[in-house]
Amino acid sequence: MKAHAAEAALDYAESGMILGLGSGSTAEIFIDRLGKALKAGLLSDIRGVPTSSMTERAAQAAGVPLIPADQASRIDLTVDGADEVDGRFRLIKGGGGCLLREKIIAHASDRMIVVIDETKLVETLGAFPLPVEVDPFAFTITAKKVFDALRASGAPRADVALRRRGDGPAPFVTDGGHFILDCECGELPNPEDTARRLAAIPGVMEHGLFIGLARTVIVGEEDGAEVLEI
Ligand code: A5P
Repeated sequence: MKAHAAEAALDYAESGMILGLGSGSTAEIFIDRLGKALKAGLLSDIRGVPTSSMTERAAQAAGVPLIPADQASRIDLTVDGADEVDGRFRLIKGGGGCLLREKIIAHASDRMIVVIDETKLVETLGAFPLPVEVDPFAFTITAKKVFDALRASGAPRADVALRRRGDGPAPFVTDGGHFILDCECGELPNPEDTARRLAAIPGVMEHGLFIGLARTVIVGEEDGAEVLEI
């Protein structure tokens, strides 16, 4: 299903474009197919801006030319995955821990296309734990503020847990040197309000609610892909 979505997204890539390359397994399938299209001469003069070190490695392996993010002055199109998507194309992202860089690139792009399998479509966001990227400094204080913000915006619960690296005790550290708090809320009845409250906390570098960024969602199904637009 993910491959169907990723392959359908290739139709939107055009020669000469600067592409934001998202992170995660679906985005990596897109990168693989993009590399194949470049090798076959179906596309040319494409340069990618990776949203994570994992994506950078995937693009290098696929033969997709890259430009460092700090040298990109514009991005035509970003193709990225998501952990949840609701009917208004509000997203939860950050399951892979790359949300800050993903949001910087998505926000800078003329267009964002989200590629998901059909299991990611939800009526209400929040069954997937919301990732919040925080500065390691005084993160326990930040975690308490995150808890308060989630409860104040109507989340029925807020179990805030520091993400660990694998099964060990060491914290997971993002490419930017930050920690991730995974917030089990059950549901997020008012994502805009949640996003506003989280963004107002000084130790929060970014949160995984992507609102107003995607206008196209490609949903991979068993036998093809459906393109949804708003
Ligand atoms: C990475 O931080 C995430 O935002 C991913 O885009 C998201 O977790 C989707 O990943 P998959 O495509 O692997 O499901």
